[in-house]
Amino acid sequence: MLPKFMLPPIPKPPRILVIATVIATTFALLPPAIAARMRSEKSREPRIHLIQNMDNQARWKTQQANPLFADGRAMRPNVEGTVARGELRTNDHLERGRVIKDGAEVWADTVPSGLEVTEDFVRRGQERFNIYCAPCHGWSGLGDGPIHRRAQSLVDGSPTLSYGTVWVQPKNLHEQIYLDQSIGQIYATITLGARSMAGYKAQIPVEDRWAIAAYVKALQASETVAETMIETVAAPAEED
Ligand code: HEC
Repeated sequence: MLPKFMLPPIPKPPRILVIATVIATTFALLPPAIAARMRSEKSREPRIHLIQNMDNQARWKTQQANPLFADGRAMRPNVEGTVARGELRTNDHLERGRVIKDGAEVWADTVPSGLEVTEDFVRRGQERFNIYCAPCHGWSGLGDGPIHRRAQSLVDGSPTLSYGTVWVQPKNLHEQIYLDQSIGQIYATITLGARSMAGYKAQIPVEDRWAIAAYVKALQASETVAETMIETVAAPAEED
């Protein structure tokens, strides 16, 4: 091996190459530096999203105006005659409590075909009545449920509340006018409500609404039941 001083000198790299390397290295460090900063700082801007893939698209908010349509509304109404799946209600007796009698539409006085007034059916109605109706109308239907008593005591007991605040008492379902209403009309009241009483169509399925109506009729009958009838119920009748 030759001594060091006898080796040919290593040529120095050209100055321009050195400068280019330094600059390139500096630039190469920029992206990781930016990434590191982005990761450690919070920003209100959406993040950089180079490949869009239709991820974000223009859209309209509810109630916005949209000049694309003649009526200027972004929200489009249903095409006329549209019926959502499972929402076609053609059975007037079942859905509205209405029947055609002698050519005229009247309240039904029977439960719709397919439903049967059995003891289980009325008990179901009693259970639903006690959940949905009794808080206002009372467990006996006298219009004296706990909500009524509480509201009335607030109105009575407060000198300020009674001015301009009206509490409408839930009806006593044993009043003659309600004894005269047929089961179809009671059903319609449960479904749609009546004046200040809200309807229960959204909460109570249609069969249960009929069961409650049947129970209301039973509740009304219970006030005036003849002793002979009680015996008939206690010992099942041979006929029918
Ligand atoms: C939040 C309290 C409340 C509940 C719950 C309630 N009602 Fe009522 N109901 C009322 C009030 C109040 C009225 C009287 C409305 C009026 O006269 O403005 C009324 C009226 C009625 C009437 C008489 C309607 C008419 O034609 O005059 C019937 C029948 C009736 N309710 C049945 C029911 C049945 C059945 C339920 C259970 C599904 C029920 N209500 C649940 C408060 C209630």
